[in-house]
Amino acid sequence: MKVLVTGGAGFIGANFIHWVLKNRDWDIINLDKLTYAGNLESLKSLEDNSRYEFVQGDICDPKLVNDLMSKVDYVVHFAAESHVDRSVLEPGVFIQTNVVGTQVMLQAALENKIKRFHHVSTDEVYGALGLDGGKKFDENTPYDPHSPYSASKASSDHLVRAYGDTFDLEYTITNCSNNYGPYQFPEKMIPLFVANAREDKPLPIYGDGEYIRDYLYVDDHCEAIALVLEKGKSQETYCVGGDSERSINQMAETILKSLEKPESLMTFVKDRPGHDRRYAIDHSKITKELGWKPRVTFDEGIEKTIKWNLDNADWIQNILSGEYQKYYEKQYGERL
Ligand code: NAD
Ligand code: TYD
Repeated sequence: MKVLVTGGAGFIGANFIHWVLKNRDWDIINLDKLTYAGNLESLKSLEDNSRYEFVQGDICDPKLVNDLMSKVDYVVHFAAESHVDRSVLEPGVFIQTNVVGTQVMLQAALENKIKRFHHVSTDEVYGALGLDGGKKFDENTPYDPHSPYSASKASSDHLVRAYGDTFDLEYTITNCSNNYGPYQFPEKMIPLFVANAREDKPLPIYGDGEYIRDYLYVDDHCEAIALVLEKGKSQETYCVGGDSERSINQMAETILKSLEKPESLMTFVKDRPGHDRRYAIDHSKITKELGWKPRVTFDEGIEKTIKWNLDNADWIQNILSGEYQKYYEKQYGERL
C-alpha cells in the first residue's frame, strides 16, 4: 500500500509516519511545505528508511500534487494551518491552505482515481458545549464553527463530502479532539506550559481558565486513522476522542505539580476572542464499527508527554530561539 501523507513534518503527521512505519508495511511519501510548524528534525531517524520519501512543496500546487498522487493509491491529508490564536491574528492563510489547498488535493485525488482520500479534521467544527451536563459531539452534531481556524476546517470537511456526493470520491473523515504527545509545536498549550514552567516563567491562562478540552494521546489518534483508512466505510465520518476532559486550570496544575513548580506561575490573561467553552466527543461509532478505543490513559500520556518535552529540550529550544520569538511577543507581549 502506497500512501501520500500531507503535513507529515507537523505534530500529528510526524507521529503518524513513525507509527505507520512501525506498525504497518505501507510505503509513505510525505508532502510538506515546511511552514513555521513543519520540522524535519522530528523525522530525522527515518532519513535512510527505504519505505519513506520526503517532498517539500505546497498542497496548493496542482501540478506537484497531481504528480505525487499518480504514484500512490491512498491519501492521508493532515496539512493545515492549525493554531486558533494564529487564525485570529492572520486568517487569510487558513483559507488558502485549509480550504483552497484541500480543494486542490480533492481534485487531484479524483483525477488520479485515489482508492481512499482520508481527511483529518477536528472536533472544533462543532462549536462549543456548555460546562453543565454531559452533552458530547457526535457525527450528527450540526456544524457551528467560531474561529477562522475551525471555520476553515469546517469548509474543508464540506468540500470533501461535496466531492463524494458530486463526483463519487471515495473518502473518509475523522473529527478528533485535542491531541498531545511528542513533537507538538510549543505554541500549543501543553508544550508551552511545560517550556514556561521549566524556566519559571508565567503560564498564560486565558480568561478564567475554565475552558474544557478532551485530550487524546497522539498514538491513539494515529491508530484510529489507520483503522478508518483500512476498514472504515467509504463516505463516512468518525468522531475520535480520548474520554479525558480537562480544564486549562487542571492542565496547568498537573504540569506544575509534575515539574514541582509553584501554582503562583498560573497567570490569568486576557481571553482568546470567540473562545469555545467546552469540547467533548462521543466516539461510540468508531468503537462499535472498528473496535477502536483510546489505549493510553490521561495520567500515563501526560507524564510521557511532559518527560518527552523535558528530555528534548534541544528540539524545543531550536524553535523557541527562532522566528517563533516574534509570534510569542505579538501574542503574549502585552498580556504577560
Ligand atoms: P501542525 O501545525 O503541527 O502541522 C501542520 C503541518 O502542515 C506542518 O508540517 C506544515 O509545514 C504543513 N503545512 C502547512 N501548510 C502547508 C501547505 N500549504 N502545504 C503543505 N504542507 C503544509 O498541525 P497538527 O497539530 O499536526 O495537525 C494536523 C492536522 O490534524 C490538521 O489538519 C489539524 O486540523 C488536525 N487536527 C489537529 C488536532 C490537534 O490537537 N493538533 C486535533 C484534531 C485535528
Ligand atoms: P490550544 O492548545 O491552542 O488548542 P485548541 O485551541 O485548538 O483547543 O489550547 C487549548 C486550550 O488552552 C484552549 O482552551 C486555550 C487554552 N490556552 C491558554 O489558556 N493559554 C495559552 O497560552 C494557549 C496557547 C492556550
